[in-house]
Amino acid sequence: MTDPKLRVLIPSDRIQARIRELGKQISHDYVNGDLHFVCILKGACFFMTDLARAMERDVNIDFMGISTYGKGKTSSGEVKVTKDLDASVEGADVLIVEDIVDSGVTLNYLVHLLEQRRPKSIRIAALLDKPERRLRPVHVHYVGFQIPDQFVIGYGLDYAERYRNLDAVCVLDEGADANVG
Ligand code: IMP
Ligand code: MG
Repeated sequence: MTDPKLRVLIPSDRIQARIRELGKQISHDYVNGDLHFVCILKGACFFMTDLARAMERDVNIDFMGISTYGKGKTSSGEVKVTKDLDASVEGADVLIVEDIVDSGVTLNYLVHLLEQRRPKSIRIAALLDKPERRLRPVHVHYVGFQIPDQFVIGYGLDYAERYRNLDAVCVLDEGADANVG
């Protein structure tokens, strides 16, 4: 897909190489036990499927829908679960798989929520991290790439539900808003 408004920040081959490294590292960190990937819909589903295939062991996959009220480029801070997990995570190692950590509001909320379900452990894997933007503390154990404070799209990330299926992470140039439905 080519679009004059898009500038590639992280090309597809770099994303895939980094995910293979993360898959190796995570596989070595969790040798035994019941490992549940909790994919945060919708943005993380591309990352989750590639990461799961880079794993050198079996993983259970489950999905959670979260809405952080507000459309466009910022979230308001209120979090709601729109789709809950299918299975219990009690006694399991949970790896939350997220596309990007921005303010940290979503993951700070989610970690507290999942802790109440008595998993054996909880960690976070995020493809992207914008540490400058943090408002709530979140410890992200596995980070694909740290990026500056720029709004990015592609590889799962959207702007008003568009651009998720780009295979690279891109920056949407200023002035593009008029073209987004
Ligand atoms: P947080 O709660 O502010 O950390 O926001 C996390 C969520 O905001 C992510 O899961 C994304 O859905 C969305 N988000 C944050 N930054 C970006 C971005 O640069 N592009 C697209 N979505 C973003
Ligand atoms: Mg998200």
